[in-house]
Amino acid sequence: MNPAGPAVRGRPSYPGPPPWATPGLLRKLWGDRLRLLSDAAGEYGDVVRFAMGPKTLYFFNHPDHARHVLADNAANYHKGMGLAEARRRILGDGLLTSEGETWRGQRRAISPAFRRERIAGFAGVVAAAGDHLTARLHARTGDVVDLSEEMTALTMDVLGRTLLDVDLSPLSFLGPAFEAAQDQAMFEMVTLGVLPLWLPLPRHRRFRAARRRIEEAVRTIVSTRAPGSGTDGSDLMSVLLRVAGGERDTDLRWRGLRDQIVTMLLAGHETTASTLSWAWYLLSSHPEAAERVRTEAIEVLGDRTPGFADLNRLPYTTMVIQETMRLYPAVWGLPRRAVAADEIGGYPIPAGADVMICPYTLHRHPGFWDDPDQFRPERFAPDAPPVAHRFAYIPFGAGPRVCVGSHLGLLEAILVAAMVARRFRFELPGSAAPQPEAMLSLRVRGGLPLRVLPV
Ligand code: HEM
Repeated sequence: MNPAGPAVRGRPSYPGPPPWATPGLLRKLWGDRLRLLSDAAGEYGDVVRFAMGPKTLYFFNHPDHARHVLADNAANYHKGMGLAEARRRILGDGLLTSEGETWRGQRRAISPAFRRERIAGFAGVVAAAGDHLTARLHARTGDVVDLSEEMTALTMDVLGRTLLDVDLSPLSFLGPAFEAAQDQAMFEMVTLGVLPLWLPLPRHRRFRAARRRIEEAVRTIVSTRAPGSGTDGSDLMSVLLRVAGGERDTDLRWRGLRDQIVTMLLAGHETTASTLSWAWYLLSSHPEAAERVRTEAIEVLGDRTPGFADLNRLPYTTMVIQETMRLYPAVWGLPRRAVAADEIGGYPIPAGADVMICPYTLHRHPGFWDDPDQFRPERFAPDAPPVAHRFAYIPFGAGPRVCVGSHLGLLEAILVAAMVARRFRFELPGSAAPQPEAMLSLRVRGGLPLRVLPV
């Protein structure tokens, strides 16, 4: 395994697959990105260079490297691959993809709407969504239900009612539209963006239609909400309307608002839905952990509706969510593009290089985790030793671009896990374990059918 720095004096040469392996690499990049990166880390160590025809990907897998790219020298690393393309196409200049002064101004304006105190006020909405979910599952007890679909519906509903202050249920076409948009972003990533969007391919037509649908949804969202209506003006929608309102040019004003809303819609629901889905799978395959979550939920909540203060009273449920985010981090990859030439762990990085930091492989790094592939919530017990390296566990990213919605994501995941676990347990109907699919977030490939059983 490579140490964090070069083993020899001077410039080390990069480990990695030979150039003739490019067709196979591209196939794997399309078919199973996580396996490609995990296998490469196992075979070559913490530093791998993938030379793929006209493109080169630099994969760094030591927590020191993650700290360098995400925090210490973050100013030199803009969002890269997938995100850079998606930026032009879907997310425009929203908070997830903007850079430099534009991003700084947006983050300053938007952050207060995500403060812990404000998020605390959303516990009632989350609990109501948990109640609706419980009622739906109750009606289908004994059936096999796609839990991924249920989690997506729940998190979309919560996002609408909390941050955007709208009922998103009439906009159910948004799900398939985001699906098509993500599929295109991933396709462009693996084809290295060589196929221009004007080529009359069916996937390009699907993508353009999806973009129109998303735009239509945003217009509906904006038209149902006037600045500050019925609020003290500090909620996210009021902030977004105010920020966009500062722009004189009508077209720019609309684009600014659209980009932020699309960003919040995408970043704010898939991540939490993915975390909850993987938690249900892990609990279904670890009945003793499921039993502990259930016991804790019943002891702490009984039959009552949970509130924000319950978060601190559910330590085991919290540990399960933390361990779920270690094994299946919803944001599996943090692609970056170097602005100027740099050096990471002694390895030279040319200006413009595509660099990948991968929470999925960092979270399973054998140098920092015992039995990394095992589900063991006890790792995160309050009295357990701290994580071996601060940057070996980064489910919400790190540095200046760290997740702005982490409080909301955790509130939702922990409260909903406890509310559902006190009433139901889940069983995998077959023997095949669900497989991860690394899209912009870490999905369960083909959905997560689980049998719903009473506890
Ligand atoms: C369990 C749930 C969540 C996880 C695991 C998660 C993870 C992440 C990660 C890893 C990043 C950093 C991306 C990067 O550096 O390239 C990020 C950024 C971001 N997240 Fe989350 N997220 C979650 C929930 C949410 C929620 C509920 C929202 C609400 C809208 C949200 C909005 C954002 C935004 C806007 C950014 C960009 C921040 C910036 O660049 O300034 N996230 N998230």
